[in-house]
Amino acid sequence: MSKTDTKTKQQQEIIEEAKRRRTFAIISHPDAGKTTLTEKLLLYGGAIHEAGSIRQRKANRYAASDWMAIEKDRGISVTSSVLRFEKDDIKFNLLDTPGHKDFSEDTLRTLVAADTALMVIDVAKGVEEQTEKLFEVCKMREIPIITFVNKCDRPGLEPLEVISNIENQLGIEAVPASWPLGYGRDFQGIYDLIGKELHLQKKEEHGAKKAETEVYDLEEGIEASHLSDYDKEKFREEVLLTEDMMDMMDEEAFLNGKATPVFFGSALNNFGLDVFLEYFSELANPPQPYADENQEDRDLDRGFSGFVFKMQANMNPDHRDCAAFIRITSGKFERNIEVTESNTGQKVKMSTPHTLMGDERNILEEAYPGDVVSLFNPGSFRIGTTIYSDDPVKFDVIPLFTPEHFMKCSTKDPFKRKQLREGLKQLAEEGVVHVFEVPNGVGNELLLGTVGALQFDVVEHRMKTEYNTELHMNSVSYHAARWLSDDPDVMDKLKSSYSTHVTKDMEGHPIVLFDSGYALNQAEDKVGAENLFKFKQS
Ligand code: G4P
Repeated sequence: MSKTDTKTKQQQEIIEEAKRRRTFAIISHPDAGKTTLTEKLLLYGGAIHEAGSIRQRKANRYAASDWMAIEKDRGISVTSSVLRFEKDDIKFNLLDTPGHKDFSEDTLRTLVAADTALMVIDVAKGVEEQTEKLFEVCKMREIPIITFVNKCDRPGLEPLEVISNIENQLGIEAVPASWPLGYGRDFQGIYDLIGKELHLQKKEEHGAKKAETEVYDLEEGIEASHLSDYDKEKFREEVLLTEDMMDMMDEEAFLNGKATPVFFGSALNNFGLDVFLEYFSELANPPQPYADENQEDRDLDRGFSGFVFKMQANMNPDHRDCAAFIRITSGKFERNIEVTESNTGQKVKMSTPHTLMGDERNILEEAYPGDVVSLFNPGSFRIGTTIYSDDPVKFDVIPLFTPEHFMKCSTKDPFKRKQLREGLKQLAEEGVVHVFEVPNGVGNELLLGTVGALQFDVVEHRMKTEYNTELHMNSVSYHAARWLSDDPDVMDKLKSSYSTHVTKDMEGHPIVLFDSGYALNQAEDKVGAENLFKFKQS
């Protein structure tokens, strides 16, 4: 009897359902077109019929104060939606992160819950800073990356230059999967290098509806285009150079995030999106087993389990409520299921879970590996918390990311030291901020570290409104931080250096702060980069 024959009907259902899921997150630098592309994916995926509303919503989202007010007005859907859409029997879960220009740990953590990353690059700019940071997390998790080069309707790098830019900046192999026919003002369509079809496309007013498309074979399409003879010839040569590359792409390298298929297009004008979405569902990874704390893979068809990858607190200031977002790692979720929280053993009935699409909240009745459910935190959930129904497990999957911005803080009212520590401890547990002892510090000052500068505004605001504690914030000029291995030699060597400062986080883990990039480089030379950690397992 084969292994599948021994599986129960429910296990088979779980495996089938998991195969239909594509859970992904977008990695990009602000302005590359993430919001526009998200909306167009919903348009092409059939979840919306006309584009326009998401971008409007985003326009209100830049300032921290606006964001927090909106968040209170509308609840979690503004900043934390998981966008779900279904096309050709495939269920897509886009783990949407806030649309702020600012960068936060939330953005990085979302990638831990994703099975695939969609990398969006602005053709004029190539790979930019925030994309590189997000890429680091993909690299650590070895998840597949699919690239969309956006804004091909604008002047920018030539397609071959984009390919080498990705390879040089990220050190991965970039494999063309589609190719633009003309670029900049001459951009007229996309050649599908896999299906060998040329899609000539027409701009739609504001890109609100799908682009009108005529499909040709290569030569017919080139002749039907309005390119100059010179550009037609150049296009033929480029296609000749790139057309077999996808066939030769090493699948293993792709699945481990070491090679990325590259699609070209324009999200604004809806060019290249039909080709992209067709292959995206084939290429994107369905849910894979996560390794538990003992590094053993948890099969998808085991009992229900998941982990919290995101928390969103105080949607309603009258109740200290907080939503926990849970990525399902195995089993079937059913409404009212009773789960156990693996750290405390606390049992919780999941009676108010919902899935979010835009502003709507729909109560979710059933969900499978790859899906995300959220529920109001019963109190003890933290980022990284594992829950399970009847088949115990613990995951240790959420890393902490070293902060890049630092501020010293103290209370305006000297009698509120206790609230300061309590409040910051709570915010640190939610993953809003890192809290450290000030190196050689005196008095009631603490050192705060964040991945994005906007997080300080959130801390100040929440300490004031939730803990009735006003903060003095003073900037400090640390350049970078790294967690340390527990080798005492390493610590001694670093302590002796003038421009490095060893301190502890609130859990007592040692961390070193550097005054400059130069100090960091020197420390790497002195103690070895392998002893200085950018990520720490929580
Ligand atoms: P983000 O979420 O990554 O920050 O980027 P977003 O989608 O907001 O896009 C940033 C800007 O780039 C927007 O212009 C958007 O219209 C434009 N854009 C996105 N895709 C394309 C494209 O394919 N071609 C061109 N030419 N532009 C594109 P904006 O002026 O900031 O906003 P808006 O006035 O268009 O709303």
